[in-house]
Amino acid sequence: MGYQAFDQYASEYDAWFMENGNVLETELRLVAATLENAGRILSIGSGSALFEKLLKDRYSIEVSRCIEPAEGMAAIARKRGFEVEINTAEEADYGTSEFDTVLFNGCPCYMQDLGLALRKAYAALRPGGKVVVIDVPKESPYGTIYNLALALGTWDHPLLEGCKPKDPYPIELVRQAAWRTTADKAATMIDCGFTGLEYQQTLTLDPCYSYTLVEDPMPGHDRGSYVAIIGYKK
Ligand SMILES: C[S@@+](CC[C@H](N)C(=O)[O-])C[C@H]1O[C@@H](n2cnc3c(N)ncnc32)[C@H](O)[C@@H]1O
Repeated sequence: MGYQAFDQYASEYDAWFMENGNVLETELRLVAATLENAGRILSIGSGSALFEKLLKDRYSIEVSRCIEPAEGMAAIARKRGFEVEINTAEEADYGTSEFDTVLFNGCPCYMQDLGLALRKAYAALRPGGKVVVIDVPKESPYGTIYNLALALGTWDHPLLEGCKPKDPYPIELVRQAAWRTTADKAATMIDCGFTGLEYQQTLTLDPCYSYTLVEDPMPGHDRGSYVAIIGYKK
C-alpha cells in the first residue's frame, strides 16, 4: 500500500476521470450528497482536488483544508487553487475540535492504518460532527474485479475480457490498494468512537456498463461499488 504510484501517475489519474465522465459524475453526486450542511470540512487524501473543485463550483461546498501525501497529486490541486499539506493520513496533525466534517474519499484502501486516521478524525471533529468514509468495498463488483486483475497482474487476460471496465483503472494504482469490506470499515469506525452509522451507495451497474449512464446515490451498501459510510461524534 502507498501513495508513491500517485506521484508518478497523477496526470493519468485525472485523465482517467476526464475520459470516464459518467463515472466521475456518479461518484461526485455521492460525495456531494454526504456533504450537505457539512460545515467546516477537512479532506484527507484529497489527491488532485478534482472532487473538491467540482464540489465548490457545482455545489458551493467549500473544503477548508486538504492533506495529501503525493506531491504529484498536490501539484495539480494547487493549480486548481487549493492549498495542500503534504502528509499521510496516519502522520498528519488534524488539530482538535476544529472541523464539522472529515472526508476520506477514495483513499482508505491506500492507507496502512485506517484506525489511526479515524481516531485523529474523531479528535479533530467538534461534537455533533461527522466523518465520511468513501471507498470501493472489497465485496462489491468493482472490488472483486480489481482483486482479480491484481491476482492476474494485468487487465489483459482472457478471464477479464467482456467484464472489465471500458477504461480500467491503471493497474499500477490497483497494485497499491488493499480494499476493505464495508463491515470492516464500519467496525473500525465504531471502535474509534463514531456512532449512528449511515450508508449511501452508487456505481451499481456491472463495471463493464458503468460508463454508460450517471447514477444518483441511494441509501444502503448492498450493491454499490462506491459506498459512503457516515459516522457521528456525539
Ligand atoms: C484514489 S485517490 C483519491 C483522491 C481524491 N480523494 C479523489 O477522490 O479524487 C487516492 C489518494 O489517496 C492518497 N493516499 C495514499 N496513501 C495515503 C495515506 N496513507 N494517507 C492519505 N492519503 C493517501 C493517494 O496519494 C491518492 O491521492
